Amino acid sequence: MLSSISVSSADDHKVIEEAMKGGFKGDTSLAKLASTGKASKEDIAKLKAYCESLVKAKPPVGDYASWKTKTEALVKAVVDLESGAADAPKAFEKAANCKACHEVHKPKKK
Ligand code: HEC
Repeated sequence: MLSSISVSSADDHKVIEEAMKGGFKGDTSLAKLASTGKASKEDIAKLKAYCESLVKAKPPVGDYASWKTKTEALVKAVVDLESGAADAPKAFEKAANCKACHEVHKPKKK
């Protein structure tokens, strides 16, 4: 694998993959529940842990400043969800824009 230009490690990949599979992927994902206002306290706590793990991971592509902005926005949105802010689900949905992040930070399939 041509990984010499990438700054992220196998661990970062694992952390991101776990967060995507455990928190973001699918119609009943934690992220989906959060953005539709249906997440329980436990769902939100799990989602928060995933989002915090993302901030610390390095993205496989794209620069870290951009990644940090996106992932910190996710954490902030989850904190607002925790406090029950009325506009928090919408704000989370916006922060969790799959395509916007994948376009910049997810490796293209070869
Ligand atoms: C903050 C950025 C970010 C957001 C937001 C994001 N993703 Fe991802 N996602 C990534 C990155 C980066 C990868 C690639 C990880 C790697 O290959 O190391 C990825 C990979 C994935 C994968 C593949 C995981 C695997 O099996 O390897 C799935 C599925 C996925 N994302 C789903 C989603 C969905 C659905 C959403 C929106 C609800 C979403 N993601 C939002 C950054 C993000």
